[in-house]
Amino acid sequence: MRMAHLVTDCSFSPSPAVKTHPKSPNYGHNGIRFQNSKSSSSSLISKSCSKRSKKLFVTHASASVQAPADKTQTPLTGSQQASAHSSSKPKKVMVIGGDGYCGWATALHLSNKGYVVAIVDNLVRRLFDHQLGLDSLTPIASIQNRIRRWKSLTGKTIQLFIGDICDFEFLSEAFKSFEPDSAVHFGEQRSAPYSMIDRSRAVFTQHNNVIGTLNVLFAMKEFSEECHLVKLGTMGEYGTPNIDIEEGFITITHNGRTDTLPYPKQASSFYHLSKVHDSHNIAFTCKAWGIRATDLNQGVVYGVRTDETAMHEELSNRLDYDAIFGTALNRFCVQAAVGHPLTVYGKGGQTRGYLDIRDTVQCVELAIANPAKPGEFRVFNQFTEQFSVNELAKLVTAAGAKLGLEVQTKSVPNPRVEAEEHYYNAKHSRLSELGLVPHLLSDSLLDSLLNFAVQYKDRVDTAQIMPSVSWKKMGAKPKTLSV
Ligand SMILES: NC(=O)c1ccc[n+]([C@@H]2O[C@H](COP(=O)([O-])OP(=O)(O)OC[C@H]3O[C@@H](n4cnc5c(N)ncnc54)[C@H](O)[C@@H]3O)[C@@H](O)[C@H]2O)c1
Repeated sequence: MRMAHLVTDCSFSPSPAVKTHPKSPNYGHNGIRFQNSKSSSSSLISKSCSKRSKKLFVTHASASVQAPADKTQTPLTGSQQASAHSSSKPKKVMVIGGDGYCGWATALHLSNKGYVVAIVDNLVRRLFDHQLGLDSLTPIASIQNRIRRWKSLTGKTIQLFIGDICDFEFLSEAFKSFEPDSAVHFGEQRSAPYSMIDRSRAVFTQHNNVIGTLNVLFAMKEFSEECHLVKLGTMGEYGTPNIDIEEGFITITHNGRTDTLPYPKQASSFYHLSKVHDSHNIAFTCKAWGIRATDLNQGVVYGVRTDETAMHEELSNRLDYDAIFGTALNRFCVQAAVGHPLTVYGKGGQTRGYLDIRDTVQCVELAIANPAKPGEFRVFNQFTEQFSVNELAKLVTAAGAKLGLEVQTKSVPNPRVEAEEHYYNAKHSRLSELGLVPHLLSDSLLDSLLNFAVQYKDRVDTAQIMPSVSWKKMGAKPKTLSV
């Protein structure tokens, strides 16, 4: 039985327990320096915690504790069953970013499916909300209470390592202690508008995402050579080329010679550029060190409930509707619920791949259960349907009418630099070949998402709906967003 260092005071405080990045003296904790204030909440948190603990992480139980049989576990099927239980010990999955939107749903799903799960997170996403004055539509419990509730309902333990993956010492200890078979990496700053607020957020995003992923790769090389990396990339890495988008690679004949090459990337924000850099670093380390990796180029995720998060209100997932972190369909449903016109940016022809959060967790499970081979760099396009923004607005308007909501649509000046009318046809067959059974966007799903938004509409701050970050007007100076 391996026990990691138990830190009770810092980790159980309501504030995020994160450690100052030792190599980044110009920034507050985790490389962030926000606004102009030297006494920002981030640096205060950093100081109080870093003094107290060198090894800043927690485990709630050892990996060898097994859950008792329980009624809530859904049966394992096919390849998943083989993967979670094929050897005498259940497989261990480290979910980096497991307190976030996709990560929390995935951690619970995998735990329910019989995997031994550890969450690694520095809770910086919650800090962004505090600093920008934002909040999830749904009230969310602290990560500690979430995990305790899960244990009390299912008997299953989820280990928790609170810390920053940009801190290699912390990450190394987490890898050595937990010894994962797979590392699912959601732990990044994931908002394009956030990365376009000002210079400090652009630098933070690229530092956090690129260095964090690089550290994960080094930790795997040093401590978990057999570990399979499942990394969340984004369909936004490809941009909107005027040809079909393939899954990661394209075969090109040029001047009479043919080769299969990485599909060209045309990122459209400093956030998307960080993901492109991640992909290159991962591909390189697969080649150089024999790392096994799957890059999941995920589309835009919508929805909030999964089988597991619906089990108790303390397990609720976050749902972002603001203009910085909210994604298209989730935002439209909340806008419809509060009677705000749907905010279509520009002409509304922007087309992207979308998927239900229940399919995010399914895709990750499929990738883990069918791992890449040593040295293999796989790319799966992870979405189930594609829609233009105008099509989404029409679908939400129709669903709203059925619920008696009068939904208006308004074209607002596009704060982004992007094509507003374009060709878009992205392949996405590799996860289906592994067995993905998608939850397609249907009337009933839209009804339930809208009903959900109506249920929590009193929590909506309508001041957060209109876009406030402009791609063209971003500057070097720290920017305070309007309140
Ligand atoms: N949500 C979407 O629609 C969507 C679409 C495409 C791709 N993705 C990708 O999926 C991943 C997860 O997205 P999400 O919506 O769940 O984001 P999220 O912000 O809700 O969750 C990310 C989590 O990672 C943590 N984190 C960030 N930096 C960290 C660090 N340095 N150390 C430790 N923890 C850190 C945050 O605290 C947060 O809990 C991201 O990589 C994102 O790029 C998301």
